[in-house]
Amino acid sequence: MQIHHEPLTDVVRYIEKCRNIDLAEQEPHFDNLLRCIRRFRQVDGSLNMLEVGTGMGWAPIIAKQRGLRLKGLEISPLLVEAAREYGRKYGVEPDIELGNIEEADLGENVYDVIIASSVFEHVEHWKRGLRTVYRGLKPGGLLFFESTNKWSLVSGEYSRLPLYGWMPNRLRYRFRMLVQGPDIMENGIDFHQFTYPGLRRAFREIGFTRWHDRVDLSDPQVIRNPIRRIVLRICKKSALAREVVLTFFEVTTFVCEK
Ligand SMILES: C[S@@+](CC[C@H](N)C(=O)[O-])C[C@H]1O[C@@H](n2cnc3c(N)ncnc32)[C@H](O)[C@@H]1O
Repeated sequence: MQIHHEPLTDVVRYIEKCRNIDLAEQEPHFDNLLRCIRRFRQVDGSLNMLEVGTGMGWAPIIAKQRGLRLKGLEISPLLVEAAREYGRKYGVEPDIELGNIEEADLGENVYDVIIASSVFEHVEHWKRGLRTVYRGLKPGGLLFFESTNKWSLVSGEYSRLPLYGWMPNRLRYRFRMLVQGPDIMENGIDFHQFTYPGLRRAFREIGFTRWHDRVDLSDPQVIRNPIRRIVLRICKKSALAREVVLTFFEVTTFVCEK
C-alpha cells in the first residue's frame, strides 16, 4: 500500500459521512474497547497507547479529553487533516502521525496498548503490519484487534449485500471496483475477510503468548438480551458452541498479549 496525497473517492465519501457525527455517539464504542482492555490492565494516563488507522480520530480525541495518552498512525493525509479539524470542534488537537503500518517503524517495546479497530482488513500486507505492532508492544503489552469475519451473514464492509464476505477475494474486489470506482483498491477495500481460526494461527506464528476471543472478552452479566446471555454462557462452557457461534459472528475481536 502507498500513501496517496490525492483525494481518493472512498476517503472523501467517508469524511463526508462522518464529519457531522457527534463525538458523543462514538463514546460507547470507545468504552466497549476500553472494557476489553481493562480485563487485563488498568487504563489510566500512565499507559502509552497507539491506535493504528484512526479514521476521523474519534479514539485519540476522546482519549485526550479523558486524560489518556493515545497517539494515532494513519495512512491517509486527508484523514489526518480531517481528524485534526474534527478535533478542533471539540477543543482537542489529536496526536496523529501520517504513516503506513506495513512500513512504519514504531520502535521496539514502546507501547503498553495498541488498538487496531476496523483496520487490518484494509492492510494489504497485514502480517507485515501485525509484526510491526508486535515489535512495538512492550512485553506483556496488549493488542486490541477487531476486524472482518468472513462467514458472517452481513458484513460491515458492504452491508447492502448479504453474504458479501463469502465471495472469493477477486470477485469481491471486482464488485467493489464496479460499484465504487477503481480507486477503492488504494484505500477502502477490505483486502481480507478474516476467520477466528486463521487469526489465532497468525497470532501464534507472530509470537503473541495469549489471545482472548470475543467469547472470553464478553461478560454475561452485562449482556441485556436474555437469549444472547444464554448463548454466551453456553459458549463459555462448550468449545464446539464457541466455534460455531464465532464462525458466523459479525466481527472478529481479540485482545492479544505479547
Ligand atoms: C474503517 S476506518 C476505521 C477507523 C477507526 N479505527 C474506527 O474504528 O473508527 C480504517 C482506517 O484505517 C486506515 N488505514 C488503512 N490502511 C492503513 C495502513 N496500512 N496504515 C495505517 N492506516 C491505515 C484508513 O485510512 C482508515 O482511516
